[in-house]
Amino acid sequence: MQVNEMQICLGSSCFSRGNKELVTFIREYLKKNYLEDKVVFKGDRCMGRCSKGPNIRIGDKVIEGISLSNIEEILDREFSK
Ligand code: FES
Repeated sequence: MQVNEMQICLGSSCFSRGNKELVTFIREYLKKNYLEDKVVFKGDRCMGRCSKGPNIRIGDKVIEGISLSNIEEILDREFSK
């Protein structure tokens, strides 16, 4: 696992389209998988891709269209469980 930084877009569009709830889910995921010490998780401003959001950045990769139904799979893949 090389990723050590993850940012969630908290711009108004992504925030209202679901990132508000996803912050909680992601925090719990990191805790449950003992990743809290390894991954810095922060909020970020608008990533300039609102129409494709909600968005997240993992390492230097932006992932668009995240939701409660696909976020776990994305995190599993990115953190190569
Ligand atoms: S608000 Fe998230 S990309 Fe613009």
